[in-house]
Amino acid sequence: KKVVVAYSGGLDTSIILSWIKENYKAEVIAVCVDVGQGKELKGLNEKAKKTGASKSYIIDAKKEFVTDYIYPAIKADALYENKYYLGTALARPVIAEKIAEIVIKEKADAVCHGATGKGNDQVRFELAFKALIPNVKIIAPWREWNLRSREDAINYAKKRGIPVPVTKAKPYSSDANLWHVSYEGGVMEDMKNEYDESMFKMTVSAQKAPNKPEYLSIAFEKGAPVAVNGKKLAPVELVSKLNEIAGRNGIGRVDMIENRLVGMKSRGVYESPAATVLYCAHQELEELALDRDTLHYKQELAHKWAELAYYGLWFSPLMDALNSFVESTQKYVTGTIKLKLYKGNITPVSREAKYSLYWEELATFEKDEVYNQKDAEGFINLWGLPTKVIAIKRNKK
Ligand code: ARG
Ligand code: SIN
Repeated sequence: KKVVVAYSGGLDTSIILSWIKENYKAEVIAVCVDVGQGKELKGLNEKAKKTGASKSYIIDAKKEFVTDYIYPAIKADALYENKYYLGTALARPVIAEKIAEIVIKEKADAVCHGATGKGNDQVRFELAFKALIPNVKIIAPWREWNLRSREDAINYAKKRGIPVPVTKAKPYSSDANLWHVSYEGGVMEDMKNEYDESMFKMTVSAQKAPNKPEYLSIAFEKGAPVAVNGKKLAPVELVSKLNEIAGRNGIGRVDMIENRLVGMKSRGVYESPAATVLYCAHQELEELALDRDTLHYKQELAHKWAELAYYGLWFSPLMDALNSFVESTQKYVTGTIKLKLYKGNITPVSREAKYSLYWEELATFEKDEVYNQKDAEGFINLWGLPTKVIAIKRNKK
């Protein structure tokens, strides 16, 4: 028997490698998918083999993560519960996709992930596996074994000679990639507590940000960002660059109470600097480029899109259909938005859209030749006709 394990190199997934070997009497293959977690991936193959894997893979999925997952989210302007940029929700399906490819290549009998039984991630991984490799058995050790605490995990590791990291464990759960870092649990579980400032990795606090504003311009082609400050950049570089620029200006921190799919409310603290400036600039551009009806309809669908991504329904017919709709709205979303960043704030300062629907001569309150004010009278009479009829008919004595 062969089992492919989603492996990160951390303590939990290291234990999983040996736990699978012991409990399923199977050959174990470790797969680590790089979505920009920024951890040292060098030496990971050796480490996986030392902890029980017969073979291991490190797969760079950064480019796909950005172009096939992050860019569609920007185009959709999708935010879960109006605040969360979906950093983990978008990363899970791309990780699962890469792992499924190895499952197929290795003709494995089962696939295994390290998400707990209390969160969203288990759902996202498993729905992706069901969509891509429907006949492969899924193993979720956290729902099976009886390790309950970090102490249990450390004891388990020590008994089997699995190296335990010497660094003190972070007192919270965190997930990092190119799009965000998330923080949950620990002191944040008590709603009365402010988060611990020192945990952040991508952003400085507003107080520590520079005392003068920084200008930033982002160019888009058909809804996808293509250049920063006039310089064309490949997708991964573009997102990294924007993380750096927005992060040093204290932009992109979110502290929210969110509804997990498995039923409970939980507190999520996030930093997503690039996401915040990209969404802002993209929306500014859409305000010029999209007609009213398309824009309003798209705003409604953005909630649905975010919900599907959050709920693990990335590989679903509705998600495909929404993405087709969104893609068709982006045809004219080409142009450049300039923002002013200052101590956690973003102000749009200049807007250029190739297919702008804004017509200065039409909007002006000065004398104009295109708009006849007399036309408004007939329009208002017809638009207001139902209002007038209701007033007359219902107010009859
Ligand atoms: N609550 C966020 C989400 O559901 C973040 C999850 C973070 N995952 C993790 N394994 N630390 O998308
Ligand atoms: C986990 O359960 O592994 C992390 C939290 C989540 O998925 O929401």
